[in-house]
Amino acid sequence: MIITIDGPSGAGKSTVSRALAKILSYPYLDTGALYRAIAYKIKKDKSAVEDASYLSRLAESLNLKLEREGSTPRVILDDIDITDLLRTEEIGLLASRISALPIIREVLLPIQRNFGSLGSIIAEGRDMGSVVFSHADFKFFLTASLSERVRRRCKELRGAGLIPDPETVKKGMILRDRQDSERAVAPLRVPADARVFDSTDLTVDEVVTAMRMALKDPP
Ligand code: C5P
Repeated sequence: MIITIDGPSGAGKSTVSRALAKILSYPYLDTGALYRAIAYKIKKDKSAVEDASYLSRLAESLNLKLEREGSTPRVILDDIDITDLLRTEEIGLLASRISALPIIREVLLPIQRNFGSLGSIIAEGRDMGSVVFSHADFKFFLTASLSERVRRRCKELRGAGLIPDPETVKKGMILRDRQDSERAVAPLRVPADARVFDSTDLTVDEVVTAMRMALKDPP
């Protein structure tokens, strides 16, 4: 069984995906973490997104793994666990920039599909239902108002010990929304056969309950 959850940043996809994965005992495929891992590597290598020869070397030698166990599956890059270094706004924005590059999307495609080929999963991202798992059994699209998404992201950053400026977070989110929906390759779209949930006024439990109900009522 493949269940996809797509949507813009800050809509609550990760929290809901984790909760659903735990209830169903399915591994959780966090595809944003894969894009973030590449952004992290580019930053660490002090390379430029425009450097085509660096990117093709990176694509050829990429050593990136996502573990299948746990509610926050570990991201292993070059045999080092970088999971806890990926959730910053800077890495998120860089991930959004590089995710528009076909070479990056191509190199991540087999990693994502292999993950799905080994059994049931909850796959979360921007193009899960539209591209990577277009044959998924269930497709959800989770959204929320911009102000609510900003509020949640600030809360998440505070939880990570940071002191976010809501205006900066809002600007970053608007930029990311635009980059993710306007890119030529695999833009953020509501898949035709997806069930759409607006989580603005819903708790995590309410969204998860609504999704579980939907899962009992196949398309
Ligand atoms: O979901 P998360 O904020 O971790 O994703 C980081 C960035 O990675 C997104 O803004 C998006 O540009 C990109 N991404 C993507 N396709 C996915 C998952 C993430 O383009 N399936």
